[in-house]
Amino acid sequence: MASVTSLSDSVQQHLSSAISAALPEAGSADPLLRRSDRADYQANGMLALAKKAGANPRELAAQVVSRVVTGDVIADVEVSGPGFLNVTVADGAIVRNLAARYADDTGRLGVPLASEPGTTVIDYAQPNVAKEMHVGHLRSAVIGDAVVRLLEFTGETVVRRHHIGDWGTQFGMLIQYLDEHPHELDHGGAEVSGEEAMSSLDRLYKAARRKFDSDEEFKTRARRRVVDLQAGDEHTLAIWQKFVDESKIYFFSVFEKLDMEIRDADIVGESGYNDMLAETCRLLEESGVAVRSEGALCVFFDDIKGPDGKPVPLIVQKSDGGYGYAATDLSAIRDRVFHLKADTLLYVVDARQSLHFRMVFETARRAGWLNDDVKAVQLAFGTVLGKDGKPFKTREGETVKLVDLLDEAIDRATAVVREKDTQDLLGEEEIAERGTQVGIGAVKYADLSTSAARDYKFDLDQMVSLNGDTSVYLQYAYARIHSILRKAGEVRPAAHPDLQLHPAERALGLHVDAFAETVGEAAAEYAPHKLTAYLYQLASLYTSFYDKCPVLKADTPAQVENRLFLCDVTAKTLHRGMALLGIRTPERL
Ligand code: ARG
Repeated sequence: MASVTSLSDSVQQHLSSAISAALPEAGSADPLLRRSDRADYQANGMLALAKKAGANPRELAAQVVSRVVTGDVIADVEVSGPGFLNVTVADGAIVRNLAARYADDTGRLGVPLASEPGTTVIDYAQPNVAKEMHVGHLRSAVIGDAVVRLLEFTGETVVRRHHIGDWGTQFGMLIQYLDEHPHELDHGGAEVSGEEAMSSLDRLYKAARRKFDSDEEFKTRARRRVVDLQAGDEHTLAIWQKFVDESKIYFFSVFEKLDMEIRDADIVGESGYNDMLAETCRLLEESGVAVRSEGALCVFFDDIKGPDGKPVPLIVQKSDGGYGYAATDLSAIRDRVFHLKADTLLYVVDARQSLHFRMVFETARRAGWLNDDVKAVQLAFGTVLGKDGKPFKTREGETVKLVDLLDEAIDRATAVVREKDTQDLLGEEEIAERGTQVGIGAVKYADLSTSAARDYKFDLDQMVSLNGDTSVYLQYAYARIHSILRKAGEVRPAAHPDLQLHPAERALGLHVDAFAETVGEAAAEYAPHKLTAYLYQLASLYTSFYDKCPVLKADTPAQVENRLFLCDVTAKTLHRGMALLGIRTPERL
């Protein structure tokens, strides 16, 4: 694998050596380098170093400058302000760096793997059986998928877990109803679509609910079913399985629409931990982490109190012996730590469940299942709001069906693609395919481009807009580059490090180099929005390069090749970056 040293790292090394030459007691001090508007990079580490050494910062900076080796990498360095170093990188260094990235035939653009990758179990895309998926499930799926891709790109071993809601007392009612109306989920052997599966589940759910609310005897039978289910009664389990299977048909259809690969083997729902629940409780009780309180097994926390000032416990086992959401999550932790050997447990779950996870994680820490070497993190995401800034609902006040939203996004995007195709280059089939890629990309990008913790407005008009920070803008930028590369015909992109660069070329080149650093940060911080911001800026810098620097009509053949090369390396970076977000980049739009 050809990993490429980034320009900022080379500059940093040059400055570090100069610092230790100028101030030997500083050792290999960090020059604190960052990109700057004044120069290519600015280093302000001299201030703290001077303070520590009791020296004048400007004088120290001047001494460092006199020891910097200029030439291949650093073209110029000067002192500015109170003792900053302004660094200008050599044009040739930029082009050579990009050429090395371009030549990396693994398609990683020279991005190195993390130095100490570990094993992360990520819990995401966890809808509930027999229930419609809503926009919250969309967020978990979209953010989780991007984080999986980012982590895998850094070399992390990633185990996916879709902790679907497939267990609990509500199944008593459903199972009992289906047992009494055995043909309600029959489709006569015909294959059903996801939507059909969901609508029959929905019909069944409503009918069962009606009966449950109006018929006391049915209610009693339904409650008895819960006991049978938990006892593992075969007939009861077989009916339960029908609900799970039918729901999976629906889930998979939604994930497919989202252009997301979800594997059946990774779906380990709440029911998957049944066999561990009793043991989990025993371990917690024996170690004293949990105590009996009014018959229930509870864990208490000093700092978690209800509005009445009384402590709010985490209930691991109810007084009737039943296990709930917490027992399942605690058992899942044991499975993920001791069996899957994770060192990081990541949960992509709605912020409204943060208290639950705080209590679950703290309990696991007290039990010794989590510790300094094995950590658990909730990547908590905010609420999806409607255009009006209120939680997303239909006009009738119902939760919006995810599928309807996605279809609408696809419709709007298809209209945009059709409208942009002024020369009628695309056939109907292509328009439909691109419309889907643009529409789904728009939804994902909108979700990923705000930091996860924040609520965000689901605004389709904004999402499919061609201007501004949208996936459509990035996809068009990518397609435009490909159209130039096609127009170039026989002339191939080629790097020419001896050429002088235009400022717009330099800005673009330095930003392409920063891809590695951005991806590393986005992965380490579970922050896909850092990558979207980077890509948006990349497209913007490309646009200004394209406005200022003729490509096919550049002055010399070498310059044409070099600019084509800048175009292509930008395209590859856009493509790779978007792929890490789970978004397609068609070459023609
Ligand atoms: N099924 C839950 C919901 O729809 C999310 C599950 C989150 N994961 C977990 N391990 N608790 O809200």
